[in-house]
Parts: sequence; structure tokens; C-alpha cells
Amino acid sequence: MSSQILLTGVTGFLGMELLQRLLAHDPNHHLFLLVRSSRSESAQERVQGILGNLNPRTLVEPAGSRVETIEGDIALDRFGLDPHKYDALARRITHIIHCAATVRFDLSLDEARRTNTQGTHHMLDFAERCVQQGHLDRFDYIGTSYVAGQRRGIIKESELDCGQAFANSYEQSKFEAERRVREYVPRLPITIFRPSIIVGNSQTGSTASFQGAYKPLRLYVKRLIVCIPADKATPVDIVPVDYVADSVCYLIEHQSPHGECYHITAGLDRTSTIGELVKQTEQFFKIPAPRLISLSTYRRFIRPILWLLLTGAKRKAMYNGEFYLPYLSSQLQFDNSNTVRDLKGSGLVAPRPEAYFMKMLQFCQESDFGREPL
Ligand SMILES: NC(=O)c1ccc[n+]([C@@H]2O[C@H](COP(=O)([O-])OP(=O)(O)OC[C@H]3O[C@@H](n4cnc5c(N)ncnc54)[C@H](OP(=O)(O)O)[C@@H]3O)[C@@H](O)[C@H]2O)c1
Repeated sequence: MSSQILLTGVTGFLGMELLQRLLAHDPNHHLFLLVRSSRSESAQERVQGILGNLNPRTLVEPAGSRVETIEGDIALDRFGLDPHKYDALARRITHIIHCAATVRFDLSLDEARRTNTQGTHHMLDFAERCVQQGHLDRFDYIGTSYVAGQRRGIIKESELDCGQAFANSYEQSKFEAERRVREYVPRLPITIFRPSIIVGNSQTGSTASFQGAYKPLRLYVKRLIVCIPADKATPVDIVPVDYVADSVCYLIEHQSPHGECYHITAGLDRTSTIGELVKQTEQFFKIPAPRLISLSTYRRFIRPILWLLLTGAKRKAMYNGEFYLPYLSSQLQFDNSNTVRDLKGSGLVAPRPEAYFMKMLQFCQESDFGREPL
């Protein structure tokens, strides 16, 4: 069936992978990519760059003829489009996949809300406009399993608001966004996907983004970390980007949108631990792992001393590394029963971290973490 899909976040890590698959799976998909211009490139130029990087062998039809760029910003009312263009778009779109977000941990709550919460409100407004102007088959929302915030224990896909606190503005703004998405479930054809921590491709180790888990890893490899305030038994749920994109696309293709929520996570039996990942990193880079100490010891004794003693890159590393501290003592595990149930027969299973983690490290080494500034 022909779908007119509005996809957001296509210049990002996960959005790019979704685009590749949507263009590969079905010659009848027509994609409208909502992209903002950057300082140096127009939205069109950015999309051309992305299309140029797609693997042409996997495409069922040339990508260019099936892709339209919509220059817009999700943080703005009507994405900044004039009302005529907005309504014309709403008449054409039959399926929305909302993937865009800011994944930064260091923004103020207002800044994070502007993109993640308000941006999602604007997408929901647009979805309602699609219904009014024509019809909408699906609204697929990419959330995060970390809407669980500072809860502890096993988190179910059905759960959202348990009165939890949040580690940062990203978690809180994504929580507020998902709460609003759920309010629309009775009136829109919604599915929610909650990945955990997304890392590079499971086969090649490659990644287009060195955000998230890569940031503290890089500080360690650059020998800028003095100690790790973590318990080695802390669970870490990571998932490779190809598994996430394959699962999201499969579930979109095979499941009706009835407000279901899917944890696209490693799951309870495949969650790794800080200790295992630190051990593998130490073996690969042959850099002795910094000492693991408890968070309370770090906060009470070590941090005040280090803050006085460290200067330059090490002090900056300490400052940047602190955004990740809550994840080093988190006690979250994500039950992915819905995902496992509905992926049955697809052949898709979250790979165990030990099967791909070394490839991921190798890619980091070869690319020098994308040579991004620390
Ligand atoms: N990465 C992870 O570990 C992870 C884990 C769980 C869930 N997720 C979720 O997965 C989704 C994708 O994350 P990602 O890792 O791919 O992030 P990413 O690489 O930072 O990409 C974010 C995308 O959102 C777009 N965007 C941000 N603000 C926008 C705005 N105001 N208007 C239009 N587009 C905007 C960005 O466009 P620009 O290029 O213009 O900035 C980019 O295309 C997000 O919803 C995130 O919450 C990610």
C-alpha cells in the first residue's frame, strides 16, 4: 500500500537508518523529510548529502524520486510553514514517524522542552490536522526507555508516570512528550518505541554519532578520567542501531497502531554491566581502567579534591563526565515483552553486547571518535 510518510530527525543517528530502511522496503513509500537548515547548508543540501550516503544496492527505486524535503523546525508552530503549505502537507501525509529530538543532557529544562516536548506537541497538532484534512494511518513516536528516570528495578512497557525524578532535562522533556503522546492514543493511531542506549552497527561497529555512551568512553580512552564512580554490577542496556531501526521498521510494517509501547532494548537477559563493559574496554585499548568507587565516596571526598586539583582538559572531562554519573549507578532494567512477542517470526533478536562490543570499540579507535572536540 502506498504511504506518504513524514519523517523527522533524518539528519540524525537513528533517523538516517530509518530512512535507509523505509526506502529499501517498499517502492510505494513516498517520504517527506522535515529538516531544518544548518549554519552552512540549506535543508535541501542536507538531504542531498544524506541521500548520497545511502547504500544504493538496497534501494528498490532511486531515492531521489521518492523523497521531498520540507524545510521546517519542529520547535515552531506549524514547523514555521505558512498555513497554506502546512495544510497542503497535511492533506498528503498518511503516516508520521517522529524521531527528531535533542539528545543532549546539558541543556536547561526550557531548552530541552522546546525541542522534545513542544516539538512533539507540534507533531501531534499536525497529526490531528492530517485527520481533519484527509486521513492518517499511523503516528509512530520514538521515545526513550529513560523516561523511567531515577526509578529502580524492572520497568514495564505499559508504565510511564510513577512519580519518578529525572537525571537530566533530556529524560524529563522526553517523559513530558510521551505523556502527551499517550493522551492522544484514543484519537490517533499511535505506536510508541522506546530504545535504550543506542550504539553503533552490530556487524561493522560503525556509528554516525559519538553522543551518549560514546562520550564517557572517549574520556576514558583519552585518559582523562581519574576514577569511575560506579558499581561494577550496575546494569547497562545498550542496543545496536541496526537492531533498533530493523525492529522499528518491522513493527511498523506488521503491527496495527493501537497505542502499544515497545521497549527496543537489550532486555532482561541481555543487559550488560558496567564491570563487563569496562573489562572489555580495558582489554581492547590496553589502558588500565580507572578505579571504580562508590558514588557517595566520589561526591563526599573525591570530587571536592579533584575539583581543586585538576586543571585544563581533565577538569573539563570531569565536568562533562558528570552528566553521565546517574547512568553509572542506575538500577534500571527494561522488560521488553511486547517487543519480543511482536518480533516473533521476524528473526530479529537483540544481540548480546559481547557479540559486537569489540567491533564498536574498534570503530571508535579507527575513527578516533569522529575527531569531534572533547
Ligand atoms: N541515541 C540514543 O542513544 C537514543 C536512545 C534512546 C532514544 N533515542 C531517541 O531516538 C531519537 C533519535 O535520536 P538520535 O540519537 O538519532 O539523535 P541525533 O543524532 O541527535 O538526531 C536528532 C535529530 O533530530 C533533529 N532535530 C533536533 N531538533 C530539531 C528541530 N527543532 N527541528 C527539526 N529537527 C530537529 C536533528 O536535526 P539537526 O541535524 O538539524 O539538529 C537530528 O536530525 C530521539 O527521539 C531520541 O530521543 C535515542
